[in-house]
Amino acid sequence: MGGKAVNSCLVLAPQIRGQEILTIEALEKNGQMDRLQEAFINNSSIQCGYCTPGMLMSAKALLMANSTPSEEEIKIAISGNLCRCTGYNKIVNAIKEAATQLVETIE
Ligand code: FES
Repeated sequence: MGGKAVNSCLVLAPQIRGQEILTIEALEKNGQMDRLQEAFINNSSIQCGYCTPGMLMSAKALLMANSTPSEEEIKIAISGNLCRCTGYNKIVNAIKEAATQLVETIE
């Protein structure tokens, strides 16, 4: 919401008035997945997928604000999400990969 990751269950409807809202459904455009989604697949960061929407949106908000996050910044950004399948290394690696591709696109 407004470029920041929020817990939708903690946001009251009136709070979204005038805010830009980005949901996981908007990551795919014209049949093309977002680089984060592709990186999650490439790094086997998805098993049951239960945590994946939150992980992706937390990572998207991070990369929108900081295209060159440190590993610590990535871990902090996803710290509100729990994954019981992959552990966190694969997810962190996927976000690093997406960030690297983002920087290469900018350069
Ligand atoms: S992939 Fe299953 S909880 Fe994260």
